[in-house]
Parts: sequence; C-alpha cells; structure tokens
Amino acid sequence: MATRDYGLMIGMMIAIFLASFVSADPDLLQDVCPADMASGVKVNGFPCKNNAQAADFFFAGLANPGLTNNTFGSIVTQASVLQIPGLNTLGVSMARIDYAPGGLNPPHTHPRATEIVFVLEGELDVGFINTSNTLFPKTIKKGEVFIFPRGLLHFQINNGKVPAAVIAAFNSQLAGTQRAADALFGSTPPVDDVVLAKAFQIGTDEVEKIKSKF
Ligand SMILES: *[C@@H]1O[C@H](CO)[C@@H](O)[C@H](O)[C@H]1NC(C)=O
Repeated sequence: MATRDYGLMIGMMIAIFLASFVSADPDLLQDVCPADMASGVKVNGFPCKNNAQAADFFFAGLANPGLTNNTFGSIVTQASVLQIPGLNTLGVSMARIDYAPGGLNPPHTHPRATEIVFVLEGELDVGFINTSNTLFPKTIKKGEVFIFPRGLLHFQINNGKVPAAVIAAFNSQLAGTQRAADALFGSTPPVDDVVLAKAFQIGTDEVEKIKSKF
C-alpha cells in the first residue's frame, strides 16, 4: 500500500472516531453565548448577543402545571433555547409535560436529542419503538425515570385517574419535535392521499377523514 493510501486510511479512521462522539449539539467555543433572536445572521444555532445577564439563564415557566384542556389532554411546556436565550450553544434543555387523566402525548420523535423524563406526579404508560419495530413499554410512577433514545418514536399516556406530570431533559438546546400523525396528516402542503392510503393500507376516504382532524 502506498504511503498516500495509509494517510487516507488514518484520516478516515480519525473522522469516524470523531463522528462517533459528535452525538449531540456541537461543543461550545466560549463561556456563554445567549441567543440573539433579533439577529438576521444565520448560523448553526443562534448568534451571541452582547452583555449576558443572569436573566438570560433563568426561566420560571416550568413551576406550574400547563393547561391540559385540549384534544389530547396533555401539554408540553418547553424550556429550550427559544425560552431561555442562555441555553444557546450549551447542548441541553428541558420541558414539563402535564397530562389530564386519560391524557396522551401522541407518538413523536426528537431528531436532535435523547430525552430523559422524571415523573413529578402520577403514573404514566410510556414506550419507544426501535427501528426494528420493537416496542419498549413501561409503566412509570412518581420519582422514576425513563429514557427515549434520540430519533426514536415514543409516547406517554396517563391511564390513571389523577393528573400526571413529568420533567423532561434533552441533550440539545432545541431537541425538535415531530409528531407522526400531525406530520403525515397535517402537513402544508398536504401529503398526497394516495401516498397515505397506500402507506396505511386504507381508502383515500379514510385518509381524508383523518386529515380533517389535523
Ligand atoms: C430492537 O429491539 C429488539 C429487542 O431488544 C432487538 O432484537 C433488535 O435488534 C433491536 N433493533 C435494533 C435496530 O437495534
């Protein structure tokens, strides 16, 4: 093998080695970088604003339960870089999720983060589905934690008779959330009925019926 080929091989091995560690948000290059949401500059994340203040790192929005009087009987209150500018470049965020009795946080994925939830109140039936379509189901109650690996579909439902709540943490400043049903049946412009009819092996009339709810 020529010396040049060895160089290429070593380069590729180093690249693979590094790639295996870049599994969450990129590393930071300064102490802090509170997001400047008003800046027109496009970067990976947000540009830094000047004069960071303690207020940039504070959020009181998870203190109280969110309102669960909606179709699904659950509400996610985010504590991401969009609510807390100081999180910009730091690679973490949180959320609080409240569930009425019967409330569901419908199947969704977080493309940029693994999630770990801690049950504040009540009891939940949760699960994630791996890429071989194995469901990992679990009932979790107050004080317990469960993990939803990055990118995998998951859900939580409160089958109890009292409200439930969790605190969720993510290894991304902005985990992103894609709800399966909303994405497929509620996109703009809409996904063709024929695509959904074939994918779900139902009629286009049934597709239309589902679409009308999203
Ligand atoms: C999904 O989980 C099942 C059960 O643990 C396992 O057999 C399968 O290999 C997993 N699939 C992947 C892609 O990890």
